[in-house]
Amino acid sequence: MSNISIQSVSKRFPNGFEALKGVSADIAPGSFTIILGPSGAGKSTLLRLMNGLETPTVGSVCIAGEMLGKANLRKVRSRVAMVFQQFNLVERLSVATNVLTGRLAHRSWAGSVFYLFRNEDMDIAREVLARVGLTDKAWSRADKLSGGQQQRVGIARALAQRPKVILADEPVASLDPVSSEEIMTLLREICDRDGITVVVNLHQVDLAKRFADRIIGMNSGKIVFDGSPEQMTQPVLRTIYQREGIEDDNSLDMALAYA
Ligand SMILES: Nc1ncnc2c1ncn2[C@@H]1O[C@H](COP(=O)(O)OP(=O)(O)OP(=O)(O)O)[C@@H](O)[C@H]1O
Ligand SMILES: [Mg+2]
Repeated sequence: MSNISIQSVSKRFPNGFEALKGVSADIAPGSFTIILGPSGAGKSTLLRLMNGLETPTVGSVCIAGEMLGKANLRKVRSRVAMVFQQFNLVERLSVATNVLTGRLAHRSWAGSVFYLFRNEDMDIAREVLARVGLTDKAWSRADKLSGGQQQRVGIARALAQRPKVILADEPVASLDPVSSEEIMTLLREICDRDGITVVVNLHQVDLAKRFADRIIGMNSGKIVFDGSPEQMTQPVLRTIYQREGIEDDNSLDMALAYA
């Protein structure tokens, strides 16, 4: 298990835009954290910093006490798996082959290029597919599956990596409410049973309240709330989702009326 430590991180993109402004957070091993915030708040940027897909302009990110840098990028990526909104599967390949690509982080360059997998990898693929309930779909083409099933393949691929951390960037944004519930339940179960640290970016306040141990609220590149679901009251939600320069924001009132 590993903790994630984000220390005074700012991120300025080459075009000059500052997407993160002095963000600090320590994420405990085995915890389930959900990041909420309006579009453009910096949620994806923060998640991408946690596996080295982005580098901070100022500050540092440590995983299990080790600071992320060029030298340990490969090692960190093998321990920190990603789950995406659009699943990022290779559509024409089988479910099992997609899952096996999760093993590539542990393989040599040549093995990766020629998609050579060991028997041990096949055992892992079988195990993780059973875990997400897709044993019978192992040899189906990925693009023949429903969105909910494709996301389960995405999670199986992440699990095949044997990660310490799973980062999920809006994993249910493309799914119907029932599939969303199933995916969130699966992620929560993986956290509880395997002790994997899970960090999820979401737009669904109700799901965040029900599934998270801890909610981090972001607005304009800053953390504006960090607490338990119980602490995320209506005034807190207003702070998270408020829009700059809009005094009486009817849309904000309407959006949060039943949150
Ligand atoms: N490579 C980049 N170059 C310049 N600006 C960027 C880059 N990547 C992101 N941004 C900007 O940084 C801000 C934060 O982006 P980010 O994707 O982290 O937001 P987000 O909270 O994930 O939003 P959403 O909810 O829409 O996914 C946005 O204004 C975005 O346009
Ligand atoms: Mg995003």
